[in-house]
Amino acid sequence: MIFGASGLLGRALMREWNEDEVIGLSSRDVDIRDPNRVREAVEKVRPDWIILAAAYTDVDGCESNQELAFAVNRDGAMQVASAAHRIGAKLLFVSSDYVFDGKKTFPYETDDARNPLGVYARSKAEAEIRLQDLLPQCCIVRTSWLFGTGGKCFPDTILKLAAARPVLDVVNDQRGSPTFSTDLARAISQLCRNHARGIVHVTNAGSCSWFEFARAILQLSSSPTEVRPIGTQQMPRPAPRPAYSVLSPASLQRQGIFMPTWQDALARYLRERKS
Ligand SMILES: NC(=O)c1ccc[n+]([C@@H]2O[C@H](COP(=O)([O-])OP(=O)(O)OC[C@H]3O[C@@H](n4cnc5c(N)ncnc54)[C@H](OP(=O)(O)O)[C@@H]3O)[C@@H](O)[C@H]2O)c1
Repeated sequence: MIFGASGLLGRALMREWNEDEVIGLSSRDVDIRDPNRVREAVEKVRPDWIILAAAYTDVDGCESNQELAFAVNRDGAMQVASAAHRIGAKLLFVSSDYVFDGKKTFPYETDDARNPLGVYARSKAEAEIRLQDLLPQCCIVRTSWLFGTGGKCFPDTILKLAAARPVLDVVNDQRGSPTFSTDLARAISQLCRNHARGIVHVTNAGSCSWFEFARAILQLSSSPTEVRPIGTQQMPRPAPRPAYSVLSPASLQRQGIFMPTWQDALARYLRERKS
């Protein structure tokens, strides 16, 4: 049972599990803030696994809608966890690299201390802590910089802007790992089949800055648009972002799962987007 099935990751999860018995829910089917609806839906289906990919993901929007952020991302997640607990279903919760403050200069391990910077980040970090209290055997997958077909994402935005502008300014002082929703969905299904528990970091391999990511997108698309590096201070946004949020693959590799590089993933995404 997939909560958030209409989102970027949710659509990829639905494709990944198309050979299995799977129920996908959007907010219109079940609002995870409504405990009765969540309980009814889960008790009706009695799934083996629940994947919780539903979230209020507008990082800047969360700063001005703090109540909504915590109601969906923390309290909504707990409603789903309680329902899973009641019927004994396994739960996999999708979390974020933003639980870290970005002060490290080498990849974050799963047991590094959380220190979320903004409202979205705090709502995800608090969800992780409460979920682990209620369901110590649950699996928490932290991922980062998601892109894929069927939703708004960075490569799509860059290509649309590049079609209209000769020059783009992109921040060069935030470093992370772009992650293709198709590759993340594959890893999540493998983790379920492995009966994984605890925190696992899942991103495409390698890292880059947003500027380097944009440059690769434009190069691979043969776009004539020029991309220029700028600092975060030159493009202020409501929510603070970690300067460095690269997640170590060690926890995933312990599960026998190895991810393709982000460059390989980007090339596949661009081919998929064209067709
Ligand atoms: N995007 C990233 O870069 C990124 C990075 C790290 C971690 N993550 C995490 O990865 C997960 C998937 O992200 P995504 O980018 O695929 O998200 P997304 O495209 O924004 O989709 C969000 C999904 O959550 C559902 N949803 C929102 N509010 C809900 C509510 N109150 N009740 C029930 N469902 C609700 C949406 O349903 P509707 O379509 O009906 O609104 C949609 O299916 C999230 O947990 C996110 O925090 C994302």
